[in-house]
Amino acid sequence: MSNLSQFPLVQYLEEKARRRIPNVALAYLNCGTGDDRGVQRNIDGLEKVNLTPRFMKGEIVPELRTMLFGREYAAPFGIAPIGLTGLMWPQAEIILAKTAKKFNIPFSLSTVATETPETIGHHVGKMGWFQLYPPRKKELRDDILKRAKDNGFHTLLVTVDVPYPSRRENSVKAGLSMPPKITGKFIYEALSHPAWTVATLKRGLPKLRTMSKYVPSGDTGDIVKFVGENLGFNLSWDYIKEVRDIWHGPMVLKGIVHPEDAEKTVAIGCDGVLISNHGARQFNGGKAAIDSLKEIVPVIKGKTTILFDSGIRSGLDVLKAIAIGADFILLGRSFLWGVAALGSQGGDHVATMIIDDIKNNMMQLGCTSLLEVRHVL
Ligand code: FNR
Repeated sequence: MSNLSQFPLVQYLEEKARRRIPNVALAYLNCGTGDDRGVQRNIDGLEKVNLTPRFMKGEIVPELRTMLFGREYAAPFGIAPIGLTGLMWPQAEIILAKTAKKFNIPFSLSTVATETPETIGHHVGKMGWFQLYPPRKKELRDDILKRAKDNGFHTLLVTVDVPYPSRRENSVKAGLSMPPKITGKFIYEALSHPAWTVATLKRGLPKLRTMSKYVPSGDTGDIVKFVGENLGFNLSWDYIKEVRDIWHGPMVLKGIVHPEDAEKTVAIGCDGVLISNHGARQFNGGKAAIDSLKEIVPVIKGKTTILFDSGIRSGLDVLKAIAIGADFILLGRSFLWGVAALGSQGGDHVATMIIDDIKNNMMQLGCTSLLEVRHVL
């Protein structure tokens, strides 16, 4: 097990990851869109949330166990879906799926991850959630959902905040292309990051493997073209209703930032609303995600389950989102920084670090239960 005192914060993992993985992987993980200011805005928004401790409450033994959609998780957080995951660290999905199973927290597999539901289903046990980038064609949609279900993924996140591909200028500037172009710069980067390169050579260059089933040539360029043509378009509520009808399990819309869209999500029969701005990777002009949470909670509180992501970097951040009214939190980049920094130990390290930080801060706040955290805002 990696040493918690050596890397007690996500920021330290980020520093180490910066030395371990090529620039193109760093840029892809870190970037937002445009000048990237939205990424920092999410973090700054959380920084502005302050909590007030209560004292003289006797001994505090924090209880983190959380019921969600009829299942018990060991803590109120899980791992957000990340696409092209193997670029940051080969087989990152397997590492994170194992962490999820070991820690009893959910792992969300992206439609455009670099490992398939068939592979990850074996590793994730009962902790698998699946994220759908909704395909235009129903046959494709239904087949992807069937594969997820057949491989034990029980909770569905439908991502609704990608009406059009975002440009991610800093990622393009760093040279990201699919398939990767083997330029002199790429070779120099590969030689400068030997651990990443060896792991990549073992697994092969990252590929959107879930989607490769639908592209007979199996060629990375063809898969990327197929994804561009078939996934991610301007959805309608009617489409969401159809998915609701065919997915027999908990279903959450991911990427809601407007109170009226949140109300509609509830009205349409979804089980939860994931308030998120995609870690500021789609639209650079929005609010800090935590400000969207503040706005939406009063409108839907008590009517549905509220999930939150975008900007969470610590257990304290998790508690801040809970104080405002979230029931469950996801972390994206934090887990990937961990894996990029520490390889196979990275997922466990981040889970331990976040749990430890939640417990410590609950004790500082005088909260035994997560419900009490609602009263320290
Ligand atoms: C993402 N996110 C994302 N979301 C999704 O629904 N499907 C996906 O494939 C991806 N891919 C992806 C790749 C990378 C590199 C990042 C950083 C993010 C968004 C993700 O699920 C989550 O909403 C954000 O990561 C949350 O913000 P933080 O925790 O990274 O600040």
